[in-house]
Amino acid sequence: MDERTLYLVVTGASSPRESAVDLVRAARDRGWAVTVVSTPMGTRFHDPHELAGISGDRVRVDFRPPGTGERLLPPDVLLACPLTFNSLNKIAAGFADTMAVAVVCEMLGCGVPTVCVPHLNEPLARHPAVGPSVQTLRAMGARVLYDTDSPAENRLPPWQEVLDTVDAAAGADTVGQR
Ligand SMILES: Cc1cc2nc3c(=O)[nH]c(=O)nc-3n(C[C@H](O)[C@H](O)[C@H](O)COP(=O)(O)O)c2cc1C
Repeated sequence: MDERTLYLVVTGASSPRESAVDLVRAARDRGWAVTVVSTPMGTRFHDPHELAGISGDRVRVDFRPPGTGERLLPPDVLLACPLTFNSLNKIAAGFADTMAVAVVCEMLGCGVPTVCVPHLNEPLARHPAVGPSVQTLRAMGARVLYDTDSPAENRLPPWQEVLDTVDAAAGADTVGQR
């Protein structure tokens, strides 16, 4: 059987507990072929060479020059994790000025099952843009793992829980809707 494809979008934030490399490894262990797309700022937080080594595919950061390369085909599922305040709000508002944000916007438009995991500190979480952005993404069909009742430092779920949601979103598991 062909491997299922997961696009992992990473941005300029990191979990204090688990790395993006851990996330790719855990996804690979669940049978996902992983293509990582990073914001330019994300490359400072998540080493593209390490990520490529684990995923077996180069990390995409920049838009390809017009008329060159291959268009990315819609994957089985897209995961944006960790997702910064900046990229969350840009996705919701439709500002596609990084490849990573453009890919999320396009794949939502293609109906690709999408899971978003914002990672915000408390002051950013208080910004009035956050609630409407989360609601917009949910209204577009994305599953957004963001529990405003949890303290900011515990709001980022463990990767296994994130991947349970990815599996559920792709219809590959029975964890159910969140
Ligand atoms: C050390 C450091 C940690 C950061 N942590 C976060 C964070 O947890 N969440 C967040 O939204 N932004 C965080 N930022 C700010 C983002 O990196 C910044 O807003 C950047 O413009 C995000 O760009 P991107 O969304 O294109 O990746 C952090 C910045 C630095 C320097």
